[in-house]
Amino acid sequence: MHNHNGWYPSDKGNPRRATHSQTVGVRGPVLIQDTALHETLEDFVFSTTLPRRIHTKGYGAFGCFYTTHSMKQYTKAKFLQTPNQQVPVAVRFSFAASNQGTPDTSRNVRGFSTKFYTDEGIFDLLCNHLPVFFVRDAIRVPNIISHLSPSPVNNLPDPERLWSLFAKYPEATNMLIWFFSDLATVKSLRHIKGYSVSTYVWRNAQGVRHYVKYHWLPLAGVKYIDQQEAQRLACEDPNISGRDLYDSIAKGKAVEYELRVQLMNPEDAKTLPFDPLDDTKVWDETRYPLLPVGRMVLNRNPVNYAEQVEKLAFNPANLLPGLEFSDDKVLQGRTFIYSDAQRHRLGPDYRDIPVNKQPNWSPASMVSSGNGRYVAGEIMRAEIPNPDNFTQATQRYESFSAKEKKNLANNIASGLVNARPNTQSAVLWHLEQVSPVLAETVRNQMLLYADPGKR
Ligand code: HEM
Repeated sequence: MHNHNGWYPSDKGNPRRATHSQTVGVRGPVLIQDTALHETLEDFVFSTTLPRRIHTKGYGAFGCFYTTHSMKQYTKAKFLQTPNQQVPVAVRFSFAASNQGTPDTSRNVRGFSTKFYTDEGIFDLLCNHLPVFFVRDAIRVPNIISHLSPSPVNNLPDPERLWSLFAKYPEATNMLIWFFSDLATVKSLRHIKGYSVSTYVWRNAQGVRHYVKYHWLPLAGVKYIDQQEAQRLACEDPNISGRDLYDSIAKGKAVEYELRVQLMNPEDAKTLPFDPLDDTKVWDETRYPLLPVGRMVLNRNPVNYAEQVEKLAFNPANLLPGLEFSDDKVLQGRTFIYSDAQRHRLGPDYRDIPVNKQPNWSPASMVSSGNGRYVAGEIMRAEIPNPDNFTQATQRYESFSAKEKKNLANNIASGLVNARPNTQSAVLWHLEQVSPVLAETVRNQMLLYADPGKR
């Protein structure tokens, strides 16, 4: 109920809120001096933070990480020294190519970022749900993102834009096979894996370095859906995976993942047929087994999405002693761009926002990677010596069941049919290098899509 001055006691944090503008007489005009009106409108206009440049749509959850196995032999990071150490975590799941309206079941790369609030400081582990990336050099990434974005002319998805990515970059062929498999259409975030994609370095107390790739494994098992179901669910419930995550935790059902790592002696790079710092590659899990590290339990939902999730600022440069960067050319490009993005998005004081706060943080707290290494060479811009763009794509394709192969071909054909003929030919040539059978199946499927009467 408002009093005669037009004020009324209101919501918490805002003890009095005007319900009438200040006017001359009852019908106005409204006075420009009405600061209450201006403040109310300004609060509204400035109440949202800028969206993330990529990974725009997302959901958050909180909980704990428990170390289950000592990693002392490989890293001096304190929270990984002894089993049963416990660290609070914040997680944000996201959709790499998204806006706030992107359906959760869209063909997408899902982001899976974890902030570990350890006694030594904050460690951020940014993962994607597919293990490889489109390209192996950060300088190509803005172009990749523009290929994955809607048309700048009409803001509509544009098949030619998307498919010319795979036509132009043969190194994206391994990603093509992962991205157009059913693994990229997902209903529930409780059932995805997470991969660091980029290769990092672990360093132990004796200074010994290992290359490391991180893996999250969902304890509830991996599950995905096919393109048809994804399209149906996109209409039925575009926020299905956010709802599923929130509802599970709200019902008291914790969401759990195991953290594992693959470790490699950097000397192996000299003899491997591919470059272990190349983000378009995976490491063979027989030769580099997944070592168990710990377990994450997500059991708390956000109570304020804007403050606790939207303002989370993940940064691969938030490392700890014993956890470092490698020379991975994508990772090196990522070293400074996240804090730039966050200064722009959240303001220069983004590290003071409670979810990002590290007590006593200063630039000197940042971990320096590679101290003591001797690095010398000619300065250049060059391709790596062993790009090997197709071998792993072939291995991946050959590992699929008959049904998975069929769905892959169908998923590719249903999109590629809408690209221009020269783009189609270039992509088909890349598929030919993966498997002549795959290329042939896609070609045949495209004929059916081009002439729906025959389907
Ligand atoms: C040079 C390559 C890359 C660039 C320039 C880049 C840039 C960015 C930017 C600007 C953001 C938004 C940050 C923010 O506003 O807070 C972001 C978010 C993200 N990036 Fe990257 N990225 C790159 C590669 C990768 C790779 C290889 C991964 C694989 C794990 C990755 C995973 C993520 C994730 C998971 C997020 C979402 C973080 C969140 O939930 O807030 N990015 N990236």
